[in-house]
Amino acid sequence: MKTEIKETYRTKHLPFSELLLERVRKQSELGVPEIYPGFDGTDADSGLSTDGYLKNDVFQKETDLLRRRPFLAGFQDTLSKPGDCVSTNFMDRNWILLRDEKNDLRAFANTCLHRGTRLISGEDTKSIRKIVCPYHSWTYATDGELLTSGCEAGNKKLREIPLMETAGMVFAGETNEILDLIEPVRREWDEYKLDSYVPFTVLKEEGEYNWKVGVEIFLETYHIATLHKNSVAPVVEKNASVFDPIGEHARILIPNRSYKAAEIPSRKDLIITYFIFPSTILVLFRDHFGLIQFQPISAERTRCLRAVLIPEKPKTDRMVRFWEGNRDFFFRTTSEDLALAPEIHAGVRQSERIYPSSWEPGIFHFHRSLGNAE
Ligand code: FES
Ligand SMILES: [Fe+2]
Repeated sequence: MKTEIKETYRTKHLPFSELLLERVRKQSELGVPEIYPGFDGTDADSGLSTDGYLKNDVFQKETDLLRRRPFLAGFQDTLSKPGDCVSTNFMDRNWILLRDEKNDLRAFANTCLHRGTRLISGEDTKSIRKIVCPYHSWTYATDGELLTSGCEAGNKKLREIPLMETAGMVFAGETNEILDLIEPVRREWDEYKLDSYVPFTVLKEEGEYNWKVGVEIFLETYHIATLHKNSVAPVVEKNASVFDPIGEHARILIPNRSYKAAEIPSRKDLIITYFIFPSTILVLFRDHFGLIQFQPISAERTRCLRAVLIPEKPKTDRMVRFWEGNRDFFFRTTSEDLALAPEIHAGVRQSERIYPSSWEPGIFHFHRSLGNAE
């Protein structure tokens, strides 16, 4: 279909070294998965204990770790006007995300200074002029300042949470140091010029599986030929991806069928997946991207958020249809992945060990990062 999409949204630029692009070319010619440098194979022999997917003490340690990492708190576009406000949750964290009178996005702990009542409820965006507690009406300005006079609270301001805005998304973390952990990946996203991006569709669902089972499906491409044989497999080179760690995060480059013949490969020749440790995945296509975030609920239950972001709000029905087609493709293929998550988990429950292969270096990188994380 011919579309009215602006060419500027289709930047050709790939922010990768020649060396990395050459690694992808080599794999697409060989047609076997790459074993990334540093992978010594011994992990594959011993496998992984399944305790890590089932035991509550492991889960407790992981939730502590997740608190020390940023998470996707929302989208810039859903808070477009001053006073727009929403409550955002990640595990037991509950924060207010709002656009203040100066048009800046801010986040605050969603808890009244008086007796702790949740100030903003529900997942829909609301338009407010002040934050008013539903219990005794203590009132706060959009900069978090307590306005009600004569109230004795240890603090006169709601606790502010640092935010980072990038590619139409808003990430939040308890401290600036925590937010800085995404910096290496954010700098690379800047090169794709994704700042105008808006969510086209957002889906949330829960399933019976450990959150790591969900993440791991997106850290390897070995399954594409089988699980996605009628969706992704026909457009990408078989078993040709390159897994490339960025500290605890990673990028996975999956060449399309056009990659081999391209003199200088560009965005259209690759599907680029970013893994933001520990539970967020961004899949970059030529002119839109998909997002997946796993939120653990318990060792055996997980909430998954999926979204498709596009360069700007569609202005014509034709553009709506165009993006619907792209969105449906992303949701269809990721539904193939997510449908398998409870099946994997059910099997893991009955095994003592599992044995990821040397063709799935992302799994080992993930577990090593979990083990080393501070
Ligand atoms: S708990 Fe908020 S005003 Fe009392
Ligand atoms: Fe998949």
